[in-house]
Amino acid sequence: MSNQNHGLFSHKTLEKNIGLLIVFSILVISFAGLAQIVPLFFQHSTTTPTPGVEPYEPLNLIGRDIYIREGCVSCHSQQIRMLSSEVQRYGPYSLAGESRYDHPFLWGSKRTGPDLARVGKRYSDDWHRVHLRNPRDVVKESNMPSYPWLQHNSVANENVQTRMRVLRRLGVPYTDEQIDKAPEQLQGKTEEDALVAYLQGLGIAGREAAAKAVAEGEL
Ligand code: HEC
Repeated sequence: MSNQNHGLFSHKTLEKNIGLLIVFSILVISFAGLAQIVPLFFQHSTTTPTPGVEPYEPLNLIGRDIYIREGCVSCHSQQIRMLSSEVQRYGPYSLAGESRYDHPFLWGSKRTGPDLARVGKRYSDDWHRVHLRNPRDVVKESNMPSYPWLQHNSVANENVQTRMRVLRRLGVPYTDEQIDKAPEQLQGKTEEDALVAYLQGLGIAGREAAAKAVAEGEL
């Protein structure tokens, strides 16, 4: 006689009791999830910024917030995956350390438009301005919305210092001097200037390290 079938927690008991099965499935999945996720909090490659990556300049930081406000992330991802087709199209795949100062990160999961993780310096500032005001002027078949108001809104009075202090609490190493000088950088600038500055900085600083990782991985 086997005692397998009679114990309280034998497999049979679990399979026949839907409540227990649900509870145990959740336990198993939670444990497996934690086992995968927790080490990432301590792993060097996710906790240290990729060489070259610095906290956002004040103007870029405001641009990033405009990117979030306007919902760009709902059509554009910012994460190049480790697939050779992606690397060929967008450039070296994204490293975790490149998002070290992103709170929240904007990796996204929807690509109605192209990935933007390495769009920095791919086009001129003027191209971006024309494109943001009316995408159809540069890409005839584009279904991206127009953002013509950005050029008319000033960012001079944005509370950039508060935002930088909050980020500092979250671990972004802004110095007092950087915070003191931040409002100067925004004088005379528009939302469009800020967004273009942000876009032009995307994926530039970590590119070299990422290219090295790709080369070593022989992808
Ligand atoms: C409804 C979806 C949608 C939204 C929202 C959207 N885009 Fe796009 N975007 C696209 C599509 C589609 C393309 C490809 C055609 C084109 O270049 O216009 C594109 C292209 C781009 C490109 C050129 C990328 C390249 O590599 O050629 C940039 C830069 C860009 N978008 C920035 C933005 C920004 C910034 C915002 C928010 C202010 C935004 N997009 C919002 C759909 C969208």
